[in-house]
Amino acid sequence: MITLALSKGRILDDSLPLLAGMGVEPAGDIGRLLRVPTTVDGLQLLIIRPADVPTYVAYGAADMGITGKDVLMEHGGQDLYEPLDLGIAGCRLSVAQQKDAPPPPAQRRLRVATKYPALTRAHFARQDAQVEIIKLYGSMELAPLVGLADVIVDLVDTGNTLKANGLVETEVIAPITARMVVNKAAMKMKHVEIRGWLDRFAAAVGGTP
Ligand code: ATP
Ligand code: PRP
Repeated sequence: MITLALSKGRILDDSLPLLAGMGVEPAGDIGRLLRVPTTVDGLQLLIIRPADVPTYVAYGAADMGITGKDVLMEHGGQDLYEPLDLGIAGCRLSVAQQKDAPPPPAQRRLRVATKYPALTRAHFARQDAQVEIIKLYGSMELAPLVGLADVIVDLVDTGNTLKANGLVETEVIAPITARMVVNKAAMKMKHVEIRGWLDRFAAAVGGTP
């Protein structure tokens, strides 16, 4: 049995058509069931939050998982294989601020609001910039408007949310897509099955695992 952890939300919306194209359909109520059998023998799905996928896969509770590159960058990813870029749920991770915002006063560090403290710290450290990270769980665009932060690090797709809140993108940190991750022990122990699924996913997205 192969257990595949899928990220709820946008990534699930893009993953289900990919699975359907491979002849795999959930055999149960995907809105309610958290562990879902499929129409294919030997494959079951876990439906979990994107940020939990690396943990389930690293501990071997799932053999494989699909989550965003943003989540993997924040997690660190050293305890997982990341064999395939699925090219779905694309967006970018960017720095943004209010149009014409003045720099922070000299006596304090730049305040950065983000859902991604680890990758944000690493990004500014690479630029030798001393920053204060403010961890938020959503609606990052609000932070500069109410003086909570000078800049944000957040995902941008159309740019409409930034624009609607009078913010401008100042730097793209990384392009983001959903990736397939694999448990390291499972890659050895269930090599044939996992390789088979990686080949099917690669064929479905037109890539090479
Ligand atoms: P959680 O409930 O765990 O906070 P979420 O609400 O962030 O999850 P979604 O917004 O459905 O969940 O999906 C987030 C993932 O989808 C991101 O990690 C990213 O990889 C991908 N993604 C693609 N486009 C966007 C976008 N415009 N905004 C946010 N995430 C996007
Ligand atoms: C996401 C992201 C941005 C917006 C980007 O928010 O955090 O706010 O979408 O998309 P756009 O560039 O197309 O406008 P989401 O809807 O997930 O809300 P949240 O940040 O409050 O979780």
